Amino acid sequence: MDDKSPLMESREAFAQGKNIMAVWRERGLTDANSLDAIEVAYDLQTGSYQALMEKAWFREIKYKFTAELASIFDNIGAETVLEAGAGEATTLAHVLQKMQAKPVHAFGFDLSWSRTALGRAYLKSVGVEADLFVAELSAIPIPDSSVDVVFTSHAVEPNRGREREILSELYRITSRNLILIEPSNTLGSEETRKHIEKHQYCLNLHQIALDLGFEVIDHRIFGNSPNPLNEHSIIHIRKKDTDKNKKVIESIFICPRCSKPLSEVKGHLFCENEGVVYPILDGIPCLRAGHAIIAGQFPKIHAGPPSRNP
Ligand SMILES: C[S@@+](CC[C@H](N)C(=O)[O-])C[C@H]1O[C@@H](n2cnc3c(N)ncnc32)[C@H](O)[C@@H]1O
Repeated sequence: MDDKSPLMESREAFAQGKNIMAVWRERGLTDANSLDAIEVAYDLQTGSYQALMEKAWFREIKYKFTAELASIFDNIGAETVLEAGAGEATTLAHVLQKMQAKPVHAFGFDLSWSRTALGRAYLKSVGVEADLFVAELSAIPIPDSSVDVVFTSHAVEPNRGREREILSELYRITSRNLILIEPSNTLGSEETRKHIEKHQYCLNLHQIALDLGFEVIDHRIFGNSPNPLNEHSIIHIRKKDTDKNKKVIESIFICPRCSKPLSEVKGHLFCENEGVVYPILDGIPCLRAGHAIIAGQFPKIHAGPPSRNP
C-alpha cells in the first residue's frame, strides 16, 4: 500500500470484500472511524441498500420500520422533515410515502455524493419529493430551529467520539423534534454490544442527550432492525421553546463554515462573507466545509476576458 493512495487502496480492498472502515482503522493511529473512512466506505457501497430493497425479507422489515416512523411524524404534525445521513434515501422515501399528511418540504443529506445522487433517483422511482444535498452531521448548512422533525437512522452509528457535537448540531437545526434511531449499547443485547465494539459504533447517546440538557420524551428499543446483532433504540428529543423559534425554510442553505446565508450564483452557491463557492454537482449541492472553493470574485467575473478594443 506504500505507493498507493488511501483511495486506491480502499477501492482494491472493497473489491476483495473487505470492511473499509476496519481497513482504515488498522492503518490509522486511532480506534475510531475517521470522517474520510466513513465517506469512502459508504461511497464505495453505493447501490447496496437499493439492491437490498429487491429482497422480500428486507423490504418487509423496511416497510414496517418506516410505517412506524411515519405514524410518529404524523402525530407530531410535521410540516418539514429532514433525514440526516440519508444514504440512498431508502428510509426517507418510504417514511414520506407512508405519512398520511405529507410534509410541505422534505430534505435529506449524506456525506457521500454517490449515495445522494442514487437516493435522488430512488425518491423519484417511489414518487416522493425531497431535496437532497451533501453535508456533514457536525456542520449542517441549515439555519437554527428550521425543521419540525430532524431524524437519523443509523447515521450517527459510525461516528464514535463525535456523538456530542453531532447531537448538538442536530438539535440546533430542529424547531421541535429530534428523533434518533441508532444502535444502543445500553438497551441492546450482549450481541449488539459486541457488534458495536467490533465496529466502533457510537455510544451512550441517551446519556449524552441528557447531559446536554435535552428533554428526552421516549427511549426504548425500536423494532424492525434488519440486523438482529445491531439492535437500535429510538431517542425522541423534544426541543424547548420550540414554536417560538420555528421558521419555514425559504432560502434554505447557510455556509457550513460561517453560517451566513448562501446565494445562488451562476448555478453554484456563493458565500459573500467568506468569498467561497460551493459547487452544485449534477444538481446536488456539495455543502461540506471542505467543498468550498476560494473564489471571492466569482459573482463579478464574466465568461470571457474583458474586451481590449479601444
Ligand atoms: C448505515 S447508513 C444509513 C443510511 C440511511 N439513514 C438509511 O436508513 O438507509 C449510514 C449513512 O450515514 C452517512 N453518514 C455517516 N456519518 C456521517 C456524517 N458524519 N455526516 C454525514 N453523513 C454521515 C453515511 O454516509 C451513510 O450513508
